[in-house]
Amino acid sequence: MSKQSKIIVALDFSTEHDVMELVDRIEPSMCRLKVGKELFTRCGPALVKKLVDKKFDVFLDLKFHDIPNTVAKACSAAADLGVWMINVHALGGEKMMSAARQALSDDNAPLLLAVTWLTSSGQSELDALGIKAEPQEMVSRLAKMAYNSGMSGVVCSAQEASVLRRDFGEEFLLVTPGIRLLDSKQDDQCRVVTPKKAIEDGASYLVIGRPITQAEDPCKVLRTINQDIC
Ligand code: C5P
Repeated sequence: MSKQSKIIVALDFSTEHDVMELVDRIEPSMCRLKVGKELFTRCGPALVKKLVDKKFDVFLDLKFHDIPNTVAKACSAAADLGVWMINVHALGGEKMMSAARQALSDDNAPLLLAVTWLTSSGQSELDALGIKAEPQEMVSRLAKMAYNSGMSGVVCSAQEASVLRRDFGEEFLLVTPGIRLLDSKQDDQCRVVTPKKAIEDGASYLVIGRPITQAEDPCKVLRTINQDIC
């Protein structure tokens, strides 16, 4: 296993104690880590810094969406934590994404992604907004805006990866949640894809939570997936 692991473990825990119980069992060579809204709101920047100090690549998944100036400043504050990757909502528009991009000009800046259309939102949400498009079309439109605004890539469903890979080329990062092993529970995810299939379809990194965090032996699961997708 190398530093290049394509697995990002979603730390969907509510206490630092639970996080450290997992983190103390794994190595930065096995995976990267994702800190989302719940954990960040409960434990704050101090925990993020602790994970960075342990040499983990941290994806700070706060999905910023606000006026361009506010998002730019939030991105700059996130970069100061030394994280590897951050994100904004593509729905905030090209001006907002460009402002975020410009706020991250130095060489050590984190990768900046945009979330396209959340996988929890479907046709009825688009209809309610009066948007005459299907979810896949919406994802492509938002990904194009992200690409034009200089984003490093997008967060998308693994089921959208092959189309986006074809349309935006090899350099554009595709980070995909909704990953399940053949023998793992589906939980509340509706459309799941195996790690191998997601990588074959063009995903750059896989966000995986419960199949790893709830496993009896998380290291074993990480080893298996890393071997499966290398
Ligand atoms: O436990 P599980 O593997 O389902 O966790 C997936 C992670 O990816 C969670 O942190 C979830 O919030 C995140 N995510 C997702 N679907 C999206 C965007 C993010 O499941 N469309």
